[in-house]
Amino acid sequence: MVGLVVGLAILLGCSLVDRVGAPDPGYVPPLLLVFGGSRGDSGNNNYLDTTVKADSPPYGIDSPTGQPTGRFSNYRNLPDFLSTYLDSEPPSPYLSPQLNGERLLYGANFASGGAGILNDTGVQQGNIIRIPKQLLAFQQYKKKLAAVVGGTKQAEQLVNKGLFLFAVGSADFTDNYFSPPFSARASQYTVPEFVDLLISELSKYLLRLNELGARRMLVIGTSPFACWPAQLATRGGECDPELQNAASLFNSQLNRMVQQLNDRFGYVFAVVANSAALAIDIRNNPGAYGFIETKEACCGQGPYNGLGQCTPASNLCPNRDEFLFWDSIHTTDRATGFFAESILTGSADVVFPMNLNSMLALKQDI
Ligand SMILES: *[C@@H]1O[C@H](CO)[C@@H](O)[C@H](O)[C@H]1NC(C)=O
Repeated sequence: MVGLVVGLAILLGCSLVDRVGAPDPGYVPPLLLVFGGSRGDSGNNNYLDTTVKADSPPYGIDSPTGQPTGRFSNYRNLPDFLSTYLDSEPPSPYLSPQLNGERLLYGANFASGGAGILNDTGVQQGNIIRIPKQLLAFQQYKKKLAAVVGGTKQAEQLVNKGLFLFAVGSADFTDNYFSPPFSARASQYTVPEFVDLLISELSKYLLRLNELGARRMLVIGTSPFACWPAQLATRGGECDPELQNAASLFNSQLNRMVQQLNDRFGYVFAVVANSAALAIDIRNNPGAYGFIETKEACCGQGPYNGLGQCTPASNLCPNRDEFLFWDSIHTTDRATGFFAESILTGSADVVFPMNLNSMLALKQDI
C-alpha cells in the first residue's frame, strides 16, 4: 500500500517532498536543529580526526557540484529533505566556520557520524561529537543566536518554534552490542536489557532538550540495520533475525517512551518515525519504487559491496536511483527521499503518534 501511494505520486510527477500549499506571505521557516549520528551529519566530521568521514569522492556525486560535502549520501540526507519541506535551507554544521550571522537563523546541525546513544558507542571511531557534547554545543548555539536576534528571549522563542531532529541508535547495535568479534556490552546485558538501557539514556537526552527549549521533536528510530549490506556481507547474505528482533524491540520501546513523555508534558512534544515498514515494502516491491537493487550497496567492495568504506577506489554503480543503498550502511538520496515523504505524510506504521505535517501545524510555543 505504501508502495502504491508513493508509486502514484511519482507517476503524477509530484516532487518527493512538497509543502502542502504555498507559504503565507511573511512566512519565516522554523529553525532546524539536528542531533545524532551519520544519518543527520552534514559535515561536522569533516572537521574531526575520525575514520567516519564522507569527505572524499564519490560521496556527493549526484549533488549540483558533484563534490563531497560530508553527507553520508550520493546527494541529500534527511535534514536536507526536511529543509526543503520547510522552505528553508539546510542548517550549517556546528563546526563549520559558516555558522554565523544570518546562517544561524536556519538552525544548526550537531550530528556526528558514528555517534550513538551511549558514550562507548563509536570508541573505535576516534574523535566524534557524542551526544552530551552535542547538547553542550546546542547551548553555545543558543548564545550565538541570541546575539543575532536581539536577546535570549527572542532566541528562546525561535527555539520553541524550531523543529528538532534526533536520529540515533543504529550504531549502538552495529558498532557496540553486535560488534564482532567481542562485545563487552553483550557479555553484560541481554538484548532486552540493552534496549532498556538505550531507551532510558535517550529519554534523558530528550528531557534535557525539552528543558533547553525543544517543543517539536522528530525522533528517528533505528534503521533496519539487520539488512544493511554491511551486515549481509558478514552474516551470510540474509537479514539476521536476532538483529531484526533487536531493532523492532528498540522501535517499539521508543514509541512507548515517547508516549510517556508526551503524556507527562500534556502535549505532543515528540513524534517517532522509523523506516522499518517502508524498507520491508521496498524490499517486497522494489519495482513500485523504481528500484532494481535492494541488497547490494552502490559504492563499496566485497560481498554486497558491504565491506569497508566507500572510497574513490570502490566499486561504484552508474544507476544510483535504482539502488536502495548508497554505501554499506546508508541509503541513496532517492531512498532517503521516500523515507522523508513517509514521515511527512505518516504512512501506516512508520510514524507515531502523528505525521510531521500535523505536528508542525500544532500551536505549542509553550
Ligand atoms: C557520558 O559522558 C558524559 C561526559 O561527556 C557524562 O557526563 C555522562 O554521565 C556519560 N553518560 C553515561 C551514561 O555514562
